[in-house]
Amino acid sequence: MSNTILVGAQWGDEGKGKIIDFLTEEADIVVRSQGGNNAGHTVIVGGTKYVLHLIPSGILRPQKMCVIGNGVVIDPVAVAKEIEGLRAAKIKVTKENLMISECAHLVLPYHRALDEQRERKKGKGKIGTTKRGIGPAYGDKAARVGLRMADLLQPELFTAKLKQRMAENNAVLKALGAAPLNVKQVTAAYLEAGKALAPFVGNTVVFLHEALKAGREMLFEGAQGTFLDIDHGTYPYVTSSNTTAGGACTGSGVPPHRMDRVLGVMKAYTTRVGEGPFPTENEELSRMLHGMGREFGATTGRARRCGWFDAVAVRYAGMINGIDEIAVTNLDGLDGLESIKVCTHYKLGKKTLEVPPSDFLQLEKCQPVYEVLPGWERPTHEAKKFADLPKRAQEYLRRIADLSGAKLRIASVGPNRDQTIVL
Ligand code: IMP
Ligand code: MG
Repeated sequence: MSNTILVGAQWGDEGKGKIIDFLTEEADIVVRSQGGNNAGHTVIVGGTKYVLHLIPSGILRPQKMCVIGNGVVIDPVAVAKEIEGLRAAKIKVTKENLMISECAHLVLPYHRALDEQRERKKGKGKIGTTKRGIGPAYGDKAARVGLRMADLLQPELFTAKLKQRMAENNAVLKALGAAPLNVKQVTAAYLEAGKALAPFVGNTVVFLHEALKAGREMLFEGAQGTFLDIDHGTYPYVTSSNTTAGGACTGSGVPPHRMDRVLGVMKAYTTRVGEGPFPTENEELSRMLHGMGREFGATTGRARRCGWFDAVAVRYAGMINGIDEIAVTNLDGLDGLESIKVCTHYKLGKKTLEVPPSDFLQLEKCQPVYEVLPGWERPTHEAKKFADLPKRAQEYLRRIADLSGAKLRIASVGPNRDQTIVL
């Protein structure tokens, strides 16, 4: 397979979990390089549904190694629980198939509390975060006051550092009108999680470089999506990590020239959770998809906002990530429609835009320009190969691939492994 970076080309929830699970068959190692347990990857195997937040989806396949890289932020208590949950579902999780970077930063209870308080303070201007403490944890990392996995494995050092950090953060929480957190309780809970995680922790950079030398193939599983990227997304309505292809390198220590291809995953339409501009948002389409029981968040259960396929956004995602190939998911979500809109350009006043403006206030003012394609009005979920799809569904896929400027590689017509068409 070669080393592949998989990214979300939209606002997250593109169905990456399923595509990653599918591609993992050909990979030896699956690497997470950014984000935290704000992510929710849903994978259905043999009728059982698994929702993964921090552990790479590769864990569901025996013999695959999973790595949580330095760029990820880890809530040790949450990840220890996720491991327990997987084990209860008879999934093997040992140090033979999971490794966690000692440099990964920790998400602590004060990060979650701060996330919540800042959102509350923002009122109507809130970001709509997952409240998992992701922003404050990355904030501490950049401010050089974060605690890392390596600290957690040294109880005395960790206790002292945490005490000092909690004094400062409790003062901030108090100033924001929130209750301070109990230092003893937090320390005890985290040290216990640290004990459970200790066997997995090590230098993942060295591990990955040895694997490169041995010719083992890697899949870098992106979390969130391009327009939630801290640099390239619809700032400030973004997450706090680099969700785009470059993040796979910085977040793992694997250099750019060892990456062989970038696969962009996108829905056949668009969705977004949380606040922020969304030019092709469409209420009717949202209602239809929610009515089918689709498009509810895997992490927070929130109903996702839905809209038409946005080629302006995806074109830009192709640029930033260097997308070579695309996987289009949720094609079956459009099965019932008589006609389908695709946004090819934006109008901003008199100007026609090929790529989105960087400023979200400008983006909010953009009017999508649509092209209308005929729907296929037939179920697609049983199609096993491209030729099995209705002609109009084939044309729709070809058109969005064409607009995206990348090669159509995979089309997904349902949540199961066997509902995946490879071209
Ligand atoms: P945070 O990452 O929890 O700080 O949330 C920031 C923004 O990113 C919010 O709009 C979230 O809804 C969104 N977000 C974070 N993680 C995901 C994800 O895995 N899928 C989709 N949206 C996400
Ligand atoms: Mg998700």
